This record gives sequence, structure tokens and C-alpha cells, in this order.
Amino acid sequence: MDGFICALVVLAAVVVYLGWRQGPEHDLTGKVVLLTGAGGGLGRLLAVNLAERGCRVACVDLATKPNEETASMVHARGRQHGAQPLAKAYTADLTKREAISALVEDVIKDFGQIDILVNNAGQLQGGAIWDLSDAQMDLVLDVNLRACMLLVKDVMPHMKARRSGHIVTISSIAALAPTLNTSAYAATKAGVSQFMECLYYDLQSQGLHENIHVTTVQPYFMNTFSQLEDAVKYNGPLGKLLFSFMDAKVSARTITKCIATRQHVANLPAHLGFTASLLRLFPRAAMGFVIESLAKPDMKIFDYSATRHGRQLAEK
Ligand SMILES: NC(=O)c1ccc[n+]([C@@H]2O[C@H](COP(=O)([O-])OP(=O)(O)OC[C@H]3O[C@@H](n4cnc5c(N)ncnc54)[C@H](O)[C@@H]3O)[C@@H](O)[C@H]2O)c1
Repeated sequence: MDGFICALVVLAAVVVYLGWRQGPEHDLTGKVVLLTGAGGGLGRLLAVNLAERGCRVACVDLATKPNEETASMVHARGRQHGAQPLAKAYTADLTKREAISALVEDVIKDFGQIDILVNNAGQLQGGAIWDLSDAQMDLVLDVNLRACMLLVKDVMPHMKARRSGHIVTISSIAALAPTLNTSAYAATKAGVSQFMECLYYDLQSQGLHENIHVTTVQPYFMNTFSQLEDAVKYNGPLGKLLFSFMDAKVSARTITKCIATRQHVANLPAHLGFTASLLRLFPRAAMGFVIESLAKPDMKIFDYSATRHGRQLAEK
């Protein structure tokens, strides 16, 4: 019995090591990135980080003004290496099928190629499923899941023809761990994580997985906007210690490194992904205790239209 437990511990350690280990960093100079949600909190930070590594960035967002600001920041802070354009802003509503097709065509026309697709645009409509209107539910599904699938579908012929590419999707730790009043959001994130996993094996079955890379990022809460922080209540100092928000700037740097190392799945922070997966093996009471007793995200009070980007969208 002791031997069995030892073997189990060693196996778990090997699995964790293999899962966490990062490969070498690849040079991103001159890579063309199609980045969605570039006008938002994480999107802007990713655009600048990627540009500092020499990427050229096609910035995409529904909100024109913040997206154009991001493109200007890429111009100002990006590493110059002669290839043009260094950045361009595209206004597109990713809930519209025809907008997605036109976007991919336009970016290839303007930049000559797409090396990396970063699916970052996201919608969070808080509330239990019975609190959401059909339109709110559709919006979450369309932006977080359908747009990601359609973008991959549209860039894939281009990447397959070049036998080169990288698909990156910003999912969420909500794909692994249940939270209150986020069922629609969490369902899209679980869906998109599983989509990416299946995509990898479809590429592998065609011998393309060494040429077209797949990275799924599953972050915990990041302080990209204050209303999100206000929506999470902690029950005591232990909850706050264990579940405080990650710094968005640090997270963006980590995600950029994950892109450069072509990490397969990146949980941010890594230990939370491990804990969430482990907790799923326990009786439900264990997860229930974590949700009810330590950190209690109350997304019901979360109103996207009141956020910085919600207001910018209304003004655009
Ligand atoms: N902030 C967090 O705590 C957190 C945690 C885990 C995962 N994520 C994920 O990270 C990503 C970025 O989140 P963020 O915190 O920067 O949010 P954000 O709201 O600041 O940025 C999202 C961007 O997506 C854009 N967008 C929304 N709907 C769109 C549409 N129909 N067409 C085009 N663009 C659209 C918005 O205009 C916005 O600029 C999202 O996918 C989110 O789900 C965020």
C-alpha cells in the first residue's frame, strides 16, 4: 500500500513537472499577430508586450477609440525592424459572421500574413442563467466561443498553406472551477478550452502540430478593471490571501512568455489550475466550501455597461 501511494506521488510530481515546464523562447521578431479585444484591459497590455518583442499587431475591437489608442501605443513602443505596417486598428463586431471573414481577409491583405491569432475579446454578463436575457446569453456565447471558432476556421487555410502558425486563446480558470453567477461565461470558457484541446489533436492527426501551435491560457481574476474587483467579496483574510486578484501587467508579461515558449496550456497562477482540477475529484462539499466560505464572486451585481469599456462602447 505504501509503495502504491509513493508511486502515485511520484507520478503526480512527474505530471505536474511536465505540465509546468516551459520550453525555450522563440524569437517573435516580425511575427504578425491578429489580436482581438485589443482595446480592452488585457488586450492592450498584450499588444504592447508583443510589440516590444518585435511583433506587428493587427488590433481588433468593437470599440474604435480604445482600439486605435492601442494601435498608437504599439507604434510608439513597438520594436522597429523595418517591416510595415507595425500596427493597424480594425473595428469589427465579432458577433457578426461576415465581419470575421472580412477581418481575416483584410489583415492578410494589409500585413501579408497572419502568424499568430490571439483570441482575447471576451464578454462577461453576470448572473445565474435565469437572470440573463436571451440576448445577454447569446452575446457571451457569440463573442467567447463562436467568434473564436470562426476565426480559427478562417485563418486555418492560410496557416495550413504556409505550414506555420500559432493559435492562442484566452480562456479562464472558470473553465475548471465553478463560481457563482457566471454559468454562461464559464460554459463558454470550458467550451473554448476543450475546443483548443481538440484542435491540437486534429492538427496532430494531419501531422501539423509541430508547425501550427496551440496555446490555451486559463487565468484567474486579473485587475483589468475596477468593477470586476468590486464584484468579488472575500469571507475573511484567508479568502483574500488565497484569492486576491493577479496584477494584469504581470499576467500579460507571463502570457506573452507563454506565447513565445509555445506553452500548450497555461494556468495562471499554475497552482490554482492544479487545485481546481484536484478539487473536482473530491465530493462537491469541498468545492462548495471554497466557493461559500473563502471567496464569493457576486457577478450578479456586475454590470458590464458601467465598466470603462462598456462606457467607451456606448460612446463610440
Ligand atoms: N479580467 C479577468 O479577471 C479575466 C480572468 C480570466 C479570463 N479573462 C479573459 O481575458 C480576456 C480579456 O479580458 P479583459 O479583462 O481585458 O476584459 P475587457 O472587457 O477589458 O476587454 C475585452 C475586450 O473585448 C472587446 N469586445 C467585447 N465584445 C466584442 C465584440 N463583439 N467584438 C469585438 N470586440 C469585443 C471589448 O470591447 C473589450 O475591449 C477575456 O476573454 C476574458 O474573458 C479575464
